[in-house]
Amino acid sequence: MQVSENIYRIGGAYLVIGGKTALIDTAPCGGESALVQSVGEILRDRRLDYVILNHTEANRSHGLCAVIERYPDAEVIATVAGIRNLKERYSLPFRERAAKDNALLELGNDVTLRFIITPNLNWPDSMVTYEENSGTLFTCDLFSDGENLMTYPDYVENALKRLFALKITAVMPADGDILRGADIQKAFDFYGGLVDKYREQEKNKTVLILYSSHYGATREMADCIRAELESAGVTVTMCGADEDTMPDINTFSAIIAGTGTYERGAAKSVMRALCGVNAVLMRHKPFFTFGSHGWSGEGANILHGMLVSLGMKPFSKPFTSIFGMSDDTRERLKRHTRKFGEFILN
Ligand SMILES: Cc1cc2nc3c(=O)[nH]c(=O)nc-3n(C[C@H](O)[C@H](O)[C@H](O)COP(=O)(O)O)c2cc1C
Repeated sequence: MQVSENIYRIGGAYLVIGGKTALIDTAPCGGESALVQSVGEILRDRRLDYVILNHTEANRSHGLCAVIERYPDAEVIATVAGIRNLKERYSLPFRERAAKDNALLELGNDVTLRFIITPNLNWPDSMVTYEENSGTLFTCDLFSDGENLMTYPDYVENALKRLFALKITAVMPADGDILRGADIQKAFDFYGGLVDKYREQEKNKTVLILYSSHYGATREMADCIRAELESAGVTVTMCGADEDTMPDINTFSAIIAGTGTYERGAAKSVMRALCGVNAVLMRHKPFFTFGSHGWSGEGANILHGMLVSLGMKPFSKPFTSIFGMSDDTRERLKRHTRKFGEFILN
C-alpha cells in the first residue's frame, strides 16, 4: 500500500524509493514470500539497494533470507549489535554496513535517511530511521500497537527527548496505524506519561510484604514487620501470596518475602509471585526474606536465593524463627525491621 509519495507499506515493513531503494524491516516467519512478491511488484526491474533492520527480533527480521535470495546485492544495514545478531541468526552471506548513530544515507531524489540508535527500545540492538526531507520516522516497535517499552524507562526518556527534537510529520511503526498531525503529539505524551508515572513511583518509598503461612507463625512475623515499618513512616502493602488479587510487584521500592518451610521447600504461591519480579526494573532494589520453620528451615533461604538470582540486593540474611516467635525473637525482628526501614527511607 502506498502511504506517501515515495513510501510503500508492506505488512510491518516499508519500502522507500528515492534515486536508490531501501526496504526498512522485513516480515515474520510465514510472511516472507508475500513480502518479496510485493517488493518485486513495486520495484519491477529496479534493484533493491538496501535492507535496513531497525532491530533484529524475528518478527521483523525473519524475511531477510528471502529478500537477500531475491536481491543478493542489497546492502544490509543495522546497528553494530544488529549486524552481529543477524550473522549469528541467519547463516547466509550478505553485504553489511553498521549504522552509526546519526549517520546519513542518501538515496537521492531528495530522500535522505538518518539512523538514530535507540538501545533497548525494545531490543539492545534497536534503532529508528528518519527520512529528513519528508519528516517521516520509521520506528519499528516504538509507537507500535501493544508494545510495552516501560521495562527501560531511562532509555525511553532519552529516546523521547532526541526524537521530539526532530521535525516529524509522520510516524510509521511496524504495527498499528501510521500517526500524523495531533496523533504524533498524543503518542509522545502517552510514553511521556508512563515515564512520569515511573519516576513518581521511584520517589515514593513503598514496600511490599508478601508471605504465605499455613499455620499463622509466618503471618505473625509479617504483622510485626508491617507494624514496625508503618510506625517508621514507610508505606507498606501487605499481601498473602495465596490471595486472588496481587499488586504489581514491580512497582515497589523494596520487597520483604516470607514463607514457612514445608517439605524442605518454600510455599509455591510465594515462589510463583516472585517469578513476576522483572529483573530489569527491580535490579539492585533491596529485599529480605523471613519465615517460620520447624527443623531444617529451607523456605526463607529459597526465596532469598530466588531474589538474589533476579538481581535484587539482599539487605540481610533471611530472618527466621522456630515455630512461633519468642519475646527475644520478636524484639530482634523489630530491630531488624527498623534498620531496614531507615535504610529504605535514606
Ligand atoms: C506438611 C509440613 C511439612 C513441614 N516440613 C518442614 C520441613 O521440611 N522443614 C522444617 O524446618 N519445617 C517443616 N515444617 C514445619 C513448619 O515449617 C512450621 O510449622 C512453621 O512454623 C510453619 O509456618 P506457618 O505457621 O507460617 O505455616 C513442616 C510443617 C508441615 C505442616
